[in-house]
Amino acid sequence: MNICRTKQQLKLTIKKAKEQGQTIGFVPTMGYLHDGHASLLRAAKEENDIVVLSIFVNPMQFGPNEDLEKYPRDEERDLAVAASCHTDIVFIPSVEEMYPTKPLTSIKVAGVTERLCGASRPGHFDGVGLVVSKLFHLVEPKHAYFGMKDAQQVAVIEQMVNDLDMNVTIVPCPIVREPDGLALSSRNVYLNANQRTEATVLSQSLSELAQSLKLNEVMTAAQCIELITNNIKQTTGEIDYVELLEYPSLHPIAKGQRLQELPSGQRFIVALAVKYGSTRLIDNALFQVEEVIERV
Ligand code: PAJ
Repeated sequence: MNICRTKQQLKLTIKKAKEQGQTIGFVPTMGYLHDGHASLLRAAKEENDIVVLSIFVNPMQFGPNEDLEKYPRDEERDLAVAASCHTDIVFIPSVEEMYPTKPLTSIKVAGVTERLCGASRPGHFDGVGLVVSKLFHLVEPKHAYFGMKDAQQVAVIEQMVNDLDMNVTIVPCPIVREPDGLALSSRNVYLNANQRTEATVLSQSLSELAQSLKLNEVMTAAQCIELITNNIKQTTGEIDYVELLEYPSLHPIAKGQRLQELPSGQRFIVALAVKYGSTRLIDNALFQVEEVIERV
């Protein structure tokens, strides 16, 4: 496994791989790797000649009162996970290496960033867009792998890639969960025992909703939101948002809209962000309208 800490080292290594005609699969992360990240690395390994992993806690995507300083880090363990997934190249730049001077260019994707985390974390997706486009330029991947855990991030990156004619295919990958349903996240380590137990309400509510919709229970958008909100309110969780939107446009769906009456083929997302203490967790479920409404 080749570890690159500078852009120069990375570019040379990528150049060599390209000269040999190797295709590159890329997995950008902020480290503290778990099985969700590993699933992306494994998908990348299957579909490309070589896999590049980046580990960089990107200050540009954190707000002033967010957890940049205390974001969990463990390079040694990350490298062990990367090696176990047969990663070929790991790019671990410092902040100074990535941003030697303050960037004056911004990547602002409109529309899809207006709601959900885009609304609650102003500037977050500008920071994500900037770092991901820098990384795409450095790595020149054929495929880049992103988890649907961050479904809005997938929508934003796909929009950016299309708008800017970036020469990369985005591959969305399914959410990896703990056996009790909690979506894996580097931030789960912040949860105390009680919060960890309570946090299962996110995935459980989404599953309960999916079950009702699959059984063809007629529900309006507002009723879906209410079902989930009521469940979360049984816990100490503080709701940031529970929203039901079209996917991937993230256009709103009218509160009184009966979901069974949406056009066939229409996809929608139910997305939630809930705080347990100071830990903000997100989860979502994606649905498609067919004979019955299936979770996809
Ligand atoms: P990070 O939170 O480290 O996540 C890196 C990738 O892992 C993202 O594509 C994310 O969706 C995916 N991921 C996280 N948890 C997952 C899970 N439980 N199942 C499947 N995939 C999961 O997302 C970022 O970093 C950053 O914003 C980044 C894109 C690296 C830009 O800085």
